[in-house]
Amino acid sequence: MKVLVTGGAGYIGSHTILQLLEAGHHVTAVDNLSNSQMESLLRVQKLAGRSLAFHEADITDPAALDRVFAAAGAEAVIHFAGLKAVGESVSQPLRYYRNNVTGTLNLLEAMDAHDVRTLVFSSSATVYGSNPQMPLKEDSRLGATNPYGRTKQQIEEILTDVQASDGRWRLALLRYFNPVGAHPSGQIGEDPQGPPNNLFPYVTQVAVGRRDMLNVFGGDYPTSDGTGIRDYIHVMDLAAGHLAALDYLAAREGVHTWNLGSGSGHSVLEIIRAFEKAAQTAIPYSLAERRPGDAPVSLADPTAAFRDLGWKAAETLENMCADAWRWQQNNPNGYRVEAAAS
Ligand code: NAD
Ligand code: UD1
Repeated sequence: MKVLVTGGAGYIGSHTILQLLEAGHHVTAVDNLSNSQMESLLRVQKLAGRSLAFHEADITDPAALDRVFAAAGAEAVIHFAGLKAVGESVSQPLRYYRNNVTGTLNLLEAMDAHDVRTLVFSSSATVYGSNPQMPLKEDSRLGATNPYGRTKQQIEEILTDVQASDGRWRLALLRYFNPVGAHPSGQIGEDPQGPPNNLFPYVTQVAVGRRDMLNVFGGDYPTSDGTGIRDYIHVMDLAAGHLAALDYLAAREGVHTWNLGSGSGHSVLEIIRAFEKAAQTAIPYSLAERRPGDAPVSLADPTAAFRDLGWKAAETLENMCADAWRWQQNNPNGYRVEAAAS
């Protein structure tokens, strides 16, 4: 299949493109490189032993999108392009709505104009907001609590309306839980620009000596050890979920929503211990205040994805840590060759 991937140079996009190429698909990637480096896709092509087409373009530019679609001959789209930092979305909401929501509207218009109506969308567990009902099911109440989350929830609604207006659309809404880890080669991985907001990249940067210590946000949650519990999912499992969703859509119209998570949770202290074991190094940390907006627990019920797609998260926490560490050790400054820009 000819697949167009927006945000393809990013963390999840690069791992998914590698699997698409390995499965024999033809890939066109579109990225404005606002949060990624071209180097990721150079490495993906080396690992796959196959090439892809790349367009440096912004999805908020309709004319650029039109040119990309004219060149790609795409049959389906996987849509990763988006801004994703929660704190930044609170201070720059217009930028987030323009980039994520307007960008998606442009993409849908370009798809319609070029007769492409199959789309896999990167949604997030963040759409469940502070819903305390665990584990979270696809029909659990939604209620994103920040602008980033609301862009995801709004895009889900827009996609649902578009499908209701024209039954030919085939749409998959994938709600990711906490993607972590890297390709087992250690060649591609997560490369945050500036200080990481998320736990795993922060831990790996402490381990490699780029940061002094980890702040554990909250030691007084109502959990077994007082720290927050999350449903971590290996990025290779997550990438496989996209291929499974594409296969499913090949035979079905409609809007289909799936949680992509493992169904089991780990606390921050458990992650520190597992990582210390995998990397054979100590992770200095100190207990800090709770981070505003954090839930005590977030856990997926992933049974629908298994039932419909035959997909489930297979990788262990041990592999998530070992692979994240291999990537960080091989690439202490991420894809940048020069000294770390912190
Ligand atoms: P990422 O930042 O590594 O990748 C996103 C890519 O999109 C980047 O390469 C960036 O340069 C590109 N991009 C952003 N705006 C663009 C625009 N206007 N035009 C073209 N390209 C643009 O992030 P990721 O972790 O790979 O996440 C991919 C998607 O999954 C995002 O939509 C994100 O919101 C969603 N998601 C991520 C997580 C996570 O924890 N990583 C969790 C849930 C959902
Ligand atoms: C965060 C976002 C969520 C987004 C997801 C994936 C918030 C409030 N939520 O989720 O919207 O979809 O990332 O990008 O930002 N932690 C520490 N120290 C750190 C970093 C994190 O203790 O330096 C803790 C957190 O409090 C949490 C756990 O580690 O308990 C996981 O945090 P993180 O990796 O940021 O993911 P989420 O908060 O689940």
